Amino acid sequence: MAQKVISIRPESLMPGARAPRYDGGQLADTLGRPMRDLRISVTDRCNFRCVYCMPREVFDADYKFLPHAALLSFEEIVRLAGVFVGLGVKKIRLTGGEPLLRKDLATLVGMLAPLGADLTLTTNGATLVKHARALKDAGLNRITVSLDSLDEATFRAMNDADFPVARVLEGIAAAADAGFAPIKINMVVKRGANDHQIVDAARHWRTDGRGRGHILRFIEYMDVGSTNGWRMDDVIPSAEVLRRIAAVFALEQAEANYGGEVAERWRYRDGAGEIGVISSVTRAFCRDCSRMRLSTEGSLFTCLFARQGHDLKALLRGGASDDDLRDRIAAVWRLRDDRYSEIRTAQTEEMRAQQRKVEMSYIGG
Ligand code: GTP
Ligand code: 5AD
Ligand code: SF4
Ligand code: SF4
Repeated sequence: MAQKVISIRPESLMPGARAPRYDGGQLADTLGRPMRDLRISVTDRCNFRCVYCMPREVFDADYKFLPHAALLSFEEIVRLAGVFVGLGVKKIRLTGGEPLLRKDLATLVGMLAPLGADLTLTTNGATLVKHARALKDAGLNRITVSLDSLDEATFRAMNDADFPVARVLEGIAAAADAGFAPIKINMVVKRGANDHQIVDAARHWRTDGRGRGHILRFIEYMDVGSTNGWRMDDVIPSAEVLRRIAAVFALEQAEANYGGEVAERWRYRDGAGEIGVISSVTRAFCRDCSRMRLSTEGSLFTCLFARQGHDLKALLRGGASDDDLRDRIAAVWRLRDDRYSEIRTAQTEEMRAQQRKVEMSYIGG
C-alpha cells in the first residue's frame, strides 16, 4: 500500500518560518518507517549497576546525575506524549535508568493512561512489590522485568549492587497478583557472566516450571553507550541460545505478534509457553524500527545509538504551542535515517571505539 508522507518544505524549517501543519497522514522517516513507539526515560538513576549498562567504575559516587530541575516534569511529559500520540504513536514505554525511582511514577501513569496508547514499563523489579498494585490501578497495561539470572551469585555479580534474586521474584509475583499478564522477563546474555544460566532460566519460566505464562526473552549484549567495554566476543548469538535450549526442550518458531516486533518468538513444542530472542547484534531489526526516544531531560533521540539529541525542553519551556512541538517532532522524524545495528558489523573495533554514544540509562532502554 502506498504510504502518504507528510511533506515539509525546506524553507519552512528555517527560523521564524511557519512550518506546514501536520496533515494527519502517515508520518514516515527517510526509510519509509512510521513512528509508532515512544520510549520515555523518566530518570537517569538506577539502584543497580549492571555491568553491561552502568558499570560501577564509571557510575560511581562522583558521577553527576541530572539535577531535578533538568528533568521534564510530569505535566511536560504528558503534554509531549499527547503530541506524539497525535502523530501516530501507539505504544508508550516508561524506562530509565530505573523508572520506579522516579517519585510518584503511578501518578504519571494515571496522567498518561487517558491518551489511550499501550502503556508499558520496563523495570528491574527491585521495588515492584511496593508499586505493582498502584501501577495497575493507575492504568498501566504491561510490565517487563529485567532478570539476568536465577542463580544468586551470578545475579549479584551482574547487578553489582548485591541485590538478591528473591526480591525481584517477589516483585514479579506481586505484578502477576495485581493482574499484569503476560509479564515479560528480559535476560541480557553476556558470555562468561550468565550464559551458563540460559537453560536454567528457560526451565524456570516455562509454564510447567514457575512461569505462570510469563515470557522470557534473551537479549544479545549490545554496544550501547561508551562505558561498558563491549566486545563482540562477549555476545552469545541468539542462534546459540536457541541451540542450547532446543537441546533440552524442543522448540518451534511462532508468528510475530505485530510487524516490527523486536523479539523473535519461539514456542515449546510440548505447549509449555514461549520464549523470545532479541538479536540486535546478529540480526538487526532497524528496517522496521519505529521507535523514538525521549530522554530524561527532554531531548529526542531517533536511535538507541545516536550521538546527539534534539532539544525539546527549550521549546517547551520557551512557550511553544502544541502545533510548534508537533512540527518540530515531525521534522526530526522525517529526516531520520538511523540504522546503526545494520551497519555496526561493517565497522571496525577502532571505528566503534572512536564514537561517543549516549548511555542507555540516559536515553531510555
Ligand atoms: P513489546 O513487544 O512491546 O513487549 O516490547 P519489546 O519487545 O519492544 O521489548 P522491550 O521494549 O522490552 O525491549 C527489549 C530490549 O530489546 C531492550 O531492552 C533492548 O535491549 C532491545 N531493544 C529494544 N528496542 C531496541 C532498538 O530500537 N534497537 C536496539 N538495537 N535494541 C532494542
Ligand atoms: N545490551 C542489551 N540490552 C541492554 N539493556 C541495557 N544495557 C544493555 C546492553 N548493553 C537493556 C536490558 C535491560 C533493559 C533495562 O535495558 O534489556 O533489561
Ligand atoms: Fe539499571 Fe536496568 Fe541499567 Fe541494570 S540494565 S543498570 S537495572 S537501568
Ligand atoms: Fe532502531 Fe537504532 Fe535500534 Fe536500529 S539500532 S533498531 S535504528 S534504535
